[in-house]
Amino acid sequence: MKISTGIFSLVTSVAIGTAVLAFSLHGIAQDDTNSAHPALFTENGEMQRPGDLDEWIFLGSTLGQGYNPAMFDPDSPGMFQVVRMEPAAYLQFIDTGEFPDGAMFSLDFYGVEQGASVTKSGYTMGELMLTEIHLKDAERFPESGFNFYMFPPGAQTAEPLDLPNDCVTCHTTDAAHDGVFTQFYPAARQRLEQAAARD
Ligand code: HEC
Repeated sequence: MKISTGIFSLVTSVAIGTAVLAFSLHGIAQDDTNSAHPALFTENGEMQRPGDLDEWIFLGSTLGQGYNPAMFDPDSPGMFQVVRMEPAAYLQFIDTGEFPDGAMFSLDFYGVEQGASVTKSGYTMGELMLTEIHLKDAERFPESGFNFYMFPPGAQTAEPLDLPNDCVTCHTTDAAHDGVFTQFYPAARQRLEQAAARD
């Protein structure tokens, strides 16, 4: 009896120990892949280039969009700009109609090619020239609520831009929703209209 009780308590404590271990491992795993704040940072606060950028959700694209009143020149049309959103935050956005804290957006700049391969007119996408990331983070950026990181091709880490800066000012003043230019992102625009109709 004593022996079996001993074995029983041994088994129980091993089981509890395993459960506690599993629980705490689970906790660590959750912290590592915190879906609300998926951005990863180095010890000195630089953002690590997200490894899954090509899996982010497409929001919108512009060609030759610029902030100066220059005429569009078909011989020099500027760059393709492609905006995407981190998928976990996008799912929360379609659920709530709001961008959750920790949401990230990328803006990729691609060179423009003419006459490549079979094409006889129009433009196709060339090389990736720059990736800019918009991070909504109230704790890191208590005044503005968000800021930007610039990743030239090959850069694995980037510092946040110094605040205040013109980027944040334009986005705060002219972007349609929460510092993000949703007026140029058709599906997000529609989701916002649906969310407003629900309220
Ligand atoms: C005068 C206004 C203006 C300024 C200044 C500006 N942006 Fe934007 N930004 C836009 C517009 C318009 C878009 C819409 C998408 C596009 O450009 O193709 C945009 C989109 C973005 C996006 C995609 C997500 C979002 O927030 O909509 C990022 C990232 C971004 N800009 C980064 C920057 C960075 C970094 C700077 C400063 C170096 C900057 N922007 C300066 C107007 C501005």
